[in-house]
Amino acid sequence: MPSCMHGFFGKATRSRVVGCGMVVVLALVTCGGRVEPGPAPYMDSRLAVEDRVDDLLDRMSLDDKLGQMTQPERRYITLQEITRYRIGSVLSSGGSAPTPNTAKSWADMYDGLQRAALAGPLGIPLMYGVDAVHGHNTVVGATVFPHNIGLGATRDPRLVREIGAATAKEMAATGVDWNFAPCVCVVRNDRWGRTYESFGEVPELPSMMTTVIDGMQDAGPASVLATAKHYLGDGGTEGGDDRGDTRVSEKELRAVHLPPFRAAVKRGVGSVMISYSSWNGLKMHRHRYLIRDVLKRELGFTGFVVSDYNGIDQIDGQPGFTKDEVSAAVNAGIDMVMVPAKWRRFIDYLRDAVKAGEVSMARIDDANRRILTKKFQLGLFERPMADRSYLTTVGGAAHRKLARRAVAASQVLLKNDGVLPLDDEDKIFVAGDSANDIGMQSGGWTITWQGKAGPITPGTTILDGIRKVAPSASITYGKDGTGIDGSYDAAVAVVGERPYAEYHGDRTGDLGLDAGDLRTIDRLRDAGVPVVVVLVSGRPLDIAERLPGWDALVAAWLPGTEGGGVADVLFGRTAPTGRLPVTWMRDGDQQPINRGDGKRPLFPFGHGLTYRWLRSG
Ligand code: GLC
Repeated sequence: MPSCMHGFFGKATRSRVVGCGMVVVLALVTCGGRVEPGPAPYMDSRLAVEDRVDDLLDRMSLDDKLGQMTQPERRYITLQEITRYRIGSVLSSGGSAPTPNTAKSWADMYDGLQRAALAGPLGIPLMYGVDAVHGHNTVVGATVFPHNIGLGATRDPRLVREIGAATAKEMAATGVDWNFAPCVCVVRNDRWGRTYESFGEVPELPSMMTTVIDGMQDAGPASVLATAKHYLGDGGTEGGDDRGDTRVSEKELRAVHLPPFRAAVKRGVGSVMISYSSWNGLKMHRHRYLIRDVLKRELGFTGFVVSDYNGIDQIDGQPGFTKDEVSAAVNAGIDMVMVPAKWRRFIDYLRDAVKAGEVSMARIDDANRRILTKKFQLGLFERPMADRSYLTTVGGAAHRKLARRAVAASQVLLKNDGVLPLDDEDKIFVAGDSANDIGMQSGGWTITWQGKAGPITPGTTILDGIRKVAPSASITYGKDGTGIDGSYDAAVAVVGERPYAEYHGDRTGDLGLDAGDLRTIDRLRDAGVPVVVVLVSGRPLDIAERLPGWDALVAAWLPGTEGGGVADVLFGRTAPTGRLPVTWMRDGDQQPINRGDGKRPLFPFGHGLTYRWLRSG
């Protein structure tokens, strides 16, 4: 390319979407008087990213820039509107999927949206965001890994990094290039409905597990953008109230909740999502000090900050959002706003705010610089379309094997009077609502936002796993325990919580098992056989009073599609090595209960037994 190309003068550009969806933006460059068509510098991957960003910013109108800061939800925008409004990103909210919900139709959907974005005047590719919080969990057939609380129990950052890379590959197959994960929250009150999204109650655990960011962002051509969320203090609200108020000193906020974000920034996390919660009464979505001064300046975060879903609506406590809320959020340092349906109004309000001088062009340019830098670094300008070569990885054997290994490593053996490990020749009765149910063992954020019971996606239930791991054993299944008698060597009750997500999972009252589960366990106990209770739950449950009647207790957490990993531990194919990532209460009134707070738990943080004949490392 003639050197003068870099010092081009002409700003006129024309973009043409060629066959493969690539865009060639021609800069009519006057060079020594001659007009030489050639790719605009920002389209030249040989240039440094900052030079490409400078060139592109230089060419962008205010409307181009406003579009880059706007993230609608896929159901509320057309392809034509994506082009017309130069939309920079689109998301799937929990469970928002194309029909049919297959990896291929996700790729088709993504490519269609991307072509619409590339058809804009400057051909700027969009980013597509989803919550792939335990695998590409919205796609039927994808591998669903254990939720974070189980991964915290593994204490294995390398394993978690592998999971990040596997998730990235399954996402890349569908084109989706932005993951609203990991949640690096520090859960301090297990009543919180998002306890299972936390790696643990102390900052060291989520900090340790930020390796998942490397897995996602360093996956070669399959790399996706990771998001550390939710900034700041989402796991510390009063009473575990989701989206509530975290009333702590700045010293405690910095000591407990900030370290995982510091670790994430150090790993180069591409985006940070703001929490719905407040700190001492001030909404995080307008917290200029914590976002601009602490996150961006003090921690040196150079990626971009995204709001949560309709998060700006909550700033003034009234429904919907106002121009003032838009200004407050953007001036606080939010660079992209997740505004699912009212995205036109957002663009209009932000344009008005800029014209009124309430939001400076410097702030708009800073936001765009941050966003565009990530798009260039992701290689979206060179490879904007889904990479269908990864389609075979979606729910493939290698990833399911990895997931099964993670499930086994996440099991925490809390009590064992000797009934475990089970013997391959045993006669075993299996019961419980969560024994033979992929939806129950996967929990929230699986296919749908809240998750649900039933065969929602291909996988191995815990019962299937038991049958496969011990083919010589005599296995009988009775969901509520009916049919058991004294002839069995052992009974396994797989019980716990029904799926939920976010505030739907907040539990302000009883934290125990439901009456049906307790009846099932009692039916097994009345038969006079040893009873192993396997808890499938997103948090510790209040079971102390019942524990004396149980011969063994395993916390299985929310294992995802590979229930075989639970069976591996029950039959001793793998020794139980998991250790509690959260303190296990003696009763619900102890909440919040955490390491070092002087309270006397049923099981302390870090507790975990193994089998006598297998000494874990
Ligand atoms: C939700 C969650 C957030 C998620 C976002 C997009 O409300 O708070 O974790 O990433 O919306 O689905």
